[in-house]
Amino acid sequence: MSQLKMTVDQTNKISKINKEIYGHFAEHLGRCIYGGIYVGKDSPIPNINGYRKDVVEALKALKVPVLRWPGGCFADTYHWKDGIGKPEERRKIVNIHWGGVTEDNSFGTHEFLDFCELIGCDAYVAVNLGSGTVQEAAEWVEYMTSSNVSPMTDLRKKNGREKPWNVKYIGIGNESWGCGGSMTVDHYSNLYKQFQQYIPSNGKIACGPNAADYNWTDGIMRNCQYSGMRGLSLHFYTIPTGDWGKKGSSVDFPENEYYSTIANTWEMETLLKKHDAVMNRYDLEKKIGLVVDEWGVWTDVIDGTNPGFLYQQNSMRDAILASVNLNLFNEHSDRVMMANIAQMVNVLQSVILTEGERMVKTPTYHVFDMYKDHMESTLVYSNIENKQILEGRYLPAVSQSVSLDDSGKLHITISNASLDEDFDINCILPRTEYKTATAKILTAKYDTCNTFDNPDAVAPEAFTDVTLDGESLKFTLPKCSVLAIELC
Ligand code: AHR
Repeated sequence: MSQLKMTVDQTNKISKINKEIYGHFAEHLGRCIYGGIYVGKDSPIPNINGYRKDVVEALKALKVPVLRWPGGCFADTYHWKDGIGKPEERRKIVNIHWGGVTEDNSFGTHEFLDFCELIGCDAYVAVNLGSGTVQEAAEWVEYMTSSNVSPMTDLRKKNGREKPWNVKYIGIGNESWGCGGSMTVDHYSNLYKQFQQYIPSNGKIACGPNAADYNWTDGIMRNCQYSGMRGLSLHFYTIPTGDWGKKGSSVDFPENEYYSTIANTWEMETLLKKHDAVMNRYDLEKKIGLVVDEWGVWTDVIDGTNPGFLYQQNSMRDAILASVNLNLFNEHSDRVMMANIAQMVNVLQSVILTEGERMVKTPTYHVFDMYKDHMESTLVYSNIENKQILEGRYLPAVSQSVSLDDSGKLHITISNASLDEDFDINCILPRTEYKTATAKILTAKYDTCNTFDNPDAVAPEAFTDVTLDGESLKFTLPKCSVLAIELC
């Protein structure tokens, strides 16, 4: 077993970890909204005003900070007035991006914003810039957020909501370089500036780059930096094989594909560093945040399911992947103000899967749960003498982040991506006086999934192999595991 030296300095405070880094994304896609979150009031599935009770409880326990909606590609085809008023009178449309199915609009603005209130999270609404108008977007924001007298607020009241909702973030277009209109950066910049002019909000998020498109970031920063932009989005999906044509299975994959997936996800580190460097040219004070509002693993769909529904399973591999990404977002929290995993339920790297009335928490759910104490804490210095584990690729075995919360507790999250080797970690914490260390671990064979018949195959357990002696913390980090340690 190798020994790895780690150092933590809790007096070296680096940046605040915005709770929004632990955010989620829910699109009108497959069974994310319908069946996953919303089943309607008359469903035999236990529900609160149509929202699945089991899902609501699981999400509340996770303390979801923010939810992005209605898309994704769907956002740029969404006309919000289709989704208000009596559900039975709402216009039915075709969901052109996702399976060509009928969207009955029974989940609309009221249902979304009431859901956010129910689970206690902030709302992040993406307005339609691709096929909608400035007036439509401006009226939607007024409908949702204004407390003044106006035709839109009257309409909201007529539809049963007296008080405005609190909508913290407004996304202006989605993937405008792709499904949101195939625009050039200059074309999008002009539209962003026009739209944002009529949208009163302190939380406007401009459409940012696809993965490593640094020219897009440069163009938006150059053109729009003084146009009310609170954040700039970044989309990056991890493809196990690296080939969009044959991405790889979510349930049946060999060890070498496990390693290529984790190596591919480390690309996020390069993206964060380089986009930050581009943004620094215009905004050294980091007033404009990077919003990674779509991230996660994207595999082939489960055999026999609708290819347009993007339904995939979630394994211990994906828990390691989530841990690496969340640690990276923490590490770069001076620039990364928000991140939203794609997607919340039944689509891509979900934290929850449902089938009829059954529900499972995925391994990724458990990672979010184990990491939740980082929310609103302060990132502190940590370093580990790491080990590379993949010939010819950058793939560190260990990923970690450490934060200090307001009550003085220290939170360490650390994962080991190696499938062969446990590590003895010797962590030095100079000048600390912590008395107790408690820990939880998530570990299983790399391809283990939680299924409806075996929902707890991957579940966190208490971990006692940790010793704290003055300034020295020692523990063994098992192969293929995620560990969360709390010192107080
Ligand atoms: O999350 C699935 C899709 O991926 C989103 O709709 C789109 O924004 C991205 O390409």
